[in-house]
Amino acid sequence: MIRLRRSVLSVPGSSDKMISKGLELSADEIMLDLEDGVALEEKEGARSKIIRAFKDHDWGDRVRAYRINGLDTPFAYRDIIDVVEQARESIDVIVIPKVEKAADVQFVDSLLSQIEMNLGLKKTIGLEASIETALGMLNVKEIAFASPRLETLVFGIADYGASLTMPSSGVSGHGDAEENFIHRWHFPMSRMVMAAKAARLAAIDAPYGDFRNEAGLEKSCQQAALLGYDGKWAIHPAQLDTINETFTPSSEDIRRAQIILKAYEDVKASGEGATALDGKMVDAASVRLARVTYEQARRLGLLEEKE
Ligand code: COA
Ligand code: MG
Repeated sequence: MIRLRRSVLSVPGSSDKMISKGLELSADEIMLDLEDGVALEEKEGARSKIIRAFKDHDWGDRVRAYRINGLDTPFAYRDIIDVVEQARESIDVIVIPKVEKAADVQFVDSLLSQIEMNLGLKKTIGLEASIETALGMLNVKEIAFASPRLETLVFGIADYGASLTMPSSGVSGHGDAEENFIHRWHFPMSRMVMAAKAARLAAIDAPYGDFRNEAGLEKSCQQAALLGYDGKWAIHPAQLDTINETFTPSSEDIRRAQIILKAYEDVKASGEGATALDGKMVDAASVRLARVTYEQARRLGLLEEKE
């Protein structure tokens, strides 16, 4: 299932106010959180709040997601059973935090299959795996191929830094002391996006924690987009416009993709393998890239006036 996920807004599941507000915002996906955004004493109460949000609110075209607690906590099994039994087909995907091995994804997959069979659900609920520990990053290849329910891999930055015992200054995440030496997130981000794309999943980047720093957010979005990421988490409403903008192909990108696709059709018709466009080579690989841009633009409805 291909869904639009430029921006994924994390909304604490314990806050009715933020849930109502979140559902009015322009995020492609809203993730109601039961994990780290919710205090221990509110874990149980937050479940009923998110069940109500799934059942009673109009989500429009937004992807309807929630994040369960980790599989090593006493909360996770009820987060799955209670919420899915009650919100049923109003859920699109479940985000599993701190996935460390393929069996973690397969456990949730089997449990969901049982619930779906028991309730006679017509829809299959999808999964998103958050990669945010050393072990998860080590096993990311097996995780990416663990279940046909998987739709995305998500990079979880603060927990990843903690798991690797990285020194943290300030926000512990994107933008945090990365100018001083090699960009500390480059390797894990590349490793995760490679596994995601090999398994034909979307890759979503971690949020930018310093949410009042617009220039930092923009740079962080651009770096992720350059590595092949499809979108980024947001933790604050003010981050959505920048994220949506960066992960939307520009009209120049769309125009160029269309020219490349057309040039390649012409070269194929003439029996050649490659051609030149503005002094640069166009071959089958450029065409695959152009197709990705074209497909994203089509899904965003940006093609009409250009075709
Ligand atoms: N989802 C929905 N609404 C949000 C929101 C979010 N993630 N973050 C802030 N808002 C709302 C606020 O409630 C406020 O609403 P109001 O104008 O109706 O009062 C408005 O947006 C402006 O918020 P602001 O006052 O600037 O921020 P804050 O100080 O209230 O909150 C945070 C800052 C970081 C605590 C808050 O953004 C937050 O909790 N984010 C989510 C954190 C999270 O999900 N963490 C786990 C995943 S990494
Ligand atoms: Mg985390």
